[in-house]
Amino acid sequence: MEETMEMTKTKHYFQENKERFLEELIDILKIPSVSADPAYKTDVAKMAQALKENMEASGVDHVEICETAGHPIVYGEKIIDTSLPTVLVYGHYDVQPADPVELWDSPAFEPVVKKTDIHPEGAIFARGACDDKGQMFMHVKAFECMIKTNTLPCNVKFMIEGEEEVGSENLGTFCAANKEKLAADIILVSDTGMLANDIPSICTGLRGLSYVEVEVVGPNRDLHSGLYGGAVANPLNILSKMIASLHDEENRITVEGFYDNVVELSAEERAEMAKAPFSQEEYNKALDLNSEYGEKGYSTPERASIRPTLDVNGIWGGYIGEGAKTVIPSKAYAKISMRLVPNQGSDEITEKFQKHFEAIAPAGVTVKVKPHHGGEAAVTPIDSIGYKAASLAMEESFGKTPIPVRSGGSIPIVALFEKELGLKTVLFGFGLDSDAIHSPNEHYGLFNFYKGIETIPLFYKNFTELSK
Ligand code: BES
Ligand code: MN
Ligand code: MN
Repeated sequence: MEETMEMTKTKHYFQENKERFLEELIDILKIPSVSADPAYKTDVAKMAQALKENMEASGVDHVEICETAGHPIVYGEKIIDTSLPTVLVYGHYDVQPADPVELWDSPAFEPVVKKTDIHPEGAIFARGACDDKGQMFMHVKAFECMIKTNTLPCNVKFMIEGEEEVGSENLGTFCAANKEKLAADIILVSDTGMLANDIPSICTGLRGLSYVEVEVVGPNRDLHSGLYGGAVANPLNILSKMIASLHDEENRITVEGFYDNVVELSAEERAEMAKAPFSQEEYNKALDLNSEYGEKGYSTPERASIRPTLDVNGIWGGYIGEGAKTVIPSKAYAKISMRLVPNQGSDEITEKFQKHFEAIAPAGVTVKVKPHHGGEAAVTPIDSIGYKAASLAMEESFGKTPIPVRSGGSIPIVALFEKELGLKTVLFGFGLDSDAIHSPNEHYGLFNFYKGIETIPLFYKNFTELSK
């Protein structure tokens, strides 16, 4: 494609300012905006303020911190001409807790740039580097590049929230109450990944989520395991048994009715999916695994994207301190997540799980199931102008047509945007699965950060063109 005068100007501005962009990212990565832990509430507020100031300096108009029942939403916009299309950028400035902190090679909120095998140009190590501060910030800086060079081709609105990692509980209400303010033609989100730095891809689907906490109660107090052992139901033994029974020998989930509404992909769709490069050997090697594992009849990429799952995220109870304490715990707990695929309703699955779990509880214990946040799966049609604009943008900046890929992660708000605002979302992510999001040593490649900033203006240009 012929390079326009506009793009040359934007690129030039980017080249002149990219070091500063990285410094600014490093500054915001130092703020521990952990949404899950109330101890960080003031840091979350500080982060919202820092983002507001940066957006203002970048040329965004009317930037405001919108208070919610939880953490605030940072909103800002640039309306250049109401007859032009409007892109609503969504992202999140909150991050996951850093723990286990002892497994980080450098402190989670003291960003450092280091080279890795996958990121020979260097990657920035910090909690939130990829998920989602680094990716969200690419949009602010891409916007700066366009606005400062007078090359912004359409209207832009920013809605950056602080509760994504805890279920976006207040964003739905915010959207419902601000429909006019948020009116747009498309939502653009960079909070997903691509296959590799030389294999660009666009995320075309996300899984839904149902998350529950279970409690199994046996005797009314912890007991001596010699005096009572064998004669009372041990909640930890029982919980383990119950959890083990949630999968059969083929690793299918046994919850009654779990697969009822699952949309199965056609053989053609599965064949299409199988074209994306994948090596089981490299996958195993990267994770130190000695075998593949999962639902019978499906490949690893399928298991991690188009199939629903059930996983224990944590299990506790009894004595876990130093040495041995002989005790039968009164209570045992587990946190369980179920990743859902199109048409499995999150609430419906939570209900089915609850019924099933109560039904399999043996005499001698009582069980309670407490639902946590959930959300629905989402898919992006690849024949939409949003997808096409993203695909062309990546093609221009990577020199390769990106592959459409469904992801296993969840961004529940994407389905909610469709419901509350009637808008489709383009998932324009530049992270890699190996970036260790939610894990110790989370990082984001400098290549990815910069490539994102260079590619985003191309999306705006293509989207505006294709909307005509
Ligand atoms: N950005 C992730 C989701 C993601 C990552 C999707 C990579 C696709 C590829 C998001 O911040 C996240 O972690 N979502 C949570 C769900 C949320 C309700 C806590 C998740 O997927 O566990
Ligand atoms: Mn995220
Ligand atoms: Mn996340």
